[in-house]
Order: sequence, then C-alpha cells, then structure tokens
Amino acid sequence: MTESRTATDESVTLPEFVRSLPKAELHLHVEGTLEPELLVRLAERNDVDLPWSSVDEVRSAYDFVDLQSFLDVYYAGMAVLRTPDDYAELMTAYLDRAVADGVVRAEIFFDPQAHVERGVGFPGFMEGFRAAMADARRVHGITSELVLCVLRHLSGEDALATVEAAEPHLDGVVAIGLDSAEVDNPPERFVDAFARARELGLRAVAHAGEEGPPSFITGALDELGAERIDHGVRCLEDTDLVARLRRDRVPLTVCPLSNVALRVVDTLADHPLPRLLAEDLVVTINSDDPSYFGGYVGDNLVAVAETFDLDRDVLVELAANSITASFLEDDVKQIHLADLDARP
Ligand code: HPA
Ligand code: ZN
Repeated sequence: MTESRTATDESVTLPEFVRSLPKAELHLHVEGTLEPELLVRLAERNDVDLPWSSVDEVRSAYDFVDLQSFLDVYYAGMAVLRTPDDYAELMTAYLDRAVADGVVRAEIFFDPQAHVERGVGFPGFMEGFRAAMADARRVHGITSELVLCVLRHLSGEDALATVEAAEPHLDGVVAIGLDSAEVDNPPERFVDAFARARELGLRAVAHAGEEGPPSFITGALDELGAERIDHGVRCLEDTDLVARLRRDRVPLTVCPLSNVALRVVDTLADHPLPRLLAEDLVVTINSDDPSYFGGYVGDNLVAVAETFDLDRDVLVELAANSITASFLEDDVKQIHLADLDARP
C-alpha cells in the first residue's frame, strides 16, 4: 500500500493535512522568529532603546523592498537579546510553533557575530539555545541542531576568527552556514572559514542565488563545499547548473513567503517553485524569518499548495525531501520517512 488514505481524503483540510506530515525545517534563522510581542517585552526587561515604542510600530516597520531593507530591521530587533534566558525564550517559542506544524527535526541558523559585537559571548547564547533545545526534545520529541552562520557583509578574516572562537562551544552545532547581504559578497571570501569548520567536523550549507547570481551557487558548491543551497531560486538562470543540482541531488531550501516579502518575486504566483519541481530538483519548503515574513513552515506549505493547486502527493514529496536533505543519521531518516508513509 503506497497510496495513503489522507492523500486523497478531502475531508481533511489542507492545513490539517500539511500539519500531519512529519517534516524537517532546514532554513530558519532563530533571530528571525523574534515576534514583535517578545521583542518589546525583552526591550523593556533589558532596558534596550529601540527605534520603535510599541508592538504596532514594530509591525509597521515590516515593509521591505529587498534583502538589505529587511536586514536593517532584523539586526536592530535582535539587539534586545542579552541573557541566556532571552535566547532560551526565543528558541522555545520557535520550537513550540515548529512542533505545532509537525516539524520533527529543525536545523536552526544563528548569527554569532551579530551577538558578539553587542558584547554577548558564545557561552551566553549557546547556554540559552541548548537548554531550550534539550527541553523541546524531552517534552515533544523534536530534535534540533544549530547551524553557525558567518555574515557575508563582514570580512573573511572575521569569519575565520568566529569559527576559531566557536571551537570550544560546538556541542549542538551541526554545520557552518553563510548569510546576510548577498549582492557584492560572493562566497569565495569565506573559503578559509569553511575549510576550518569542515576540519572541525561541521557540515556546510550556504545562502546563494537568493538575490545573487547563479555563479554564487557554483562558488558555494565548489569553493565552500556546501552540501545544501539556501534559497538557490536563481539557479534557473543557468541550465548547466540546474543539470548539476539535479544530477548531484543538491537540496535547495526554498522559502516562498520570504521571496515575496523581500521582492525576489512580485507575487507568490510568480514564484519559480513549479519550475524547480519540474526540473526534478530536491526542493524543500521553509520559513526563513517567519516573524518578519508572515508565516511559519506550515503557512508556507499551505500558501504554495493553494497558489499552485499542488496535489497532496507533491506535499508528501516536499516533506520527504526535507527529511532526506537533513543532516540526520540515515537510520533516523528512515524512521521519519516510514512515519510519513504510515500516517493514518
Ligand atoms: N538571506 C540572507 N541572510 C539572512 C536572511 C536571508 O533571507 N535572513 C536572515 N539573514
Ligand atoms: Zn535565510
């Protein structure tokens, strides 16, 4: 029996169906889960001056024209995070939402340089993250690991120094990543940081082909050893690259609502998801910075399913891709994939 009953059972609503699928979230910046209510509460608790004085004012700043206009708000907002408890609260709030969305595995980006430059050291944020992740595993069974991202608007030397500084704190970190402003910041500057991280046993991923050209995807694969590409939607501009991604089964962590919010595409109907699927690429659906972009992973899946009238079998395939593309051990992947097949 390969066809599951709910795949065709229309009495199960689309959001219920999406929620029922065991899935992994692989492209999620924990700082991008900071909801306005928590942001304002932490600003008061920590006596941090913000450019906004109420939840409504924070929300009204969420009107972006490109990646940089978002990053300006994102870095300003995360300045409220100071103590291990703040980081734990942030992480717990995300993991609770992920569990409610049927996420069984989360590989979670964080931006250490953005915290260290405000005087919060690795022990501070790592303690908070780890406590929340351990609690969520105990209470809900969700497993999670961190992806240490280096900021591409800073230098290669700074990235390497960050990896060196992180070395005593890598418990719970599965990979290195590359994020922040992509335009004019190609991956090649970060070769040394990625090489050192890989020597330390970390896996590698990189944002590429969100606003930057397809050559940044090729650079991330060839120069950084990236095993997944975060976003990657601009790969479609290079047919040889598409053939390579298909042949090598390189996963893309696609974030549809993010791409609309940051105007990578004009509307969701213009999103290249159907073309990426038609090219037989390993596509996964993720939320990126859900507090800022209007939806968590379930919302992203429901939105693309409705916009493109996706068959429920395609949603099952997207969930299966997310498990396959994760950094879980193979035997654990098989358990989640079997659960996906066996849903009632
Ligand atoms: N792209 C690049 N850097 C980021 C993003 C993103 O979508 N979100 C947080 N940092
Ligand atoms: Zn991202």
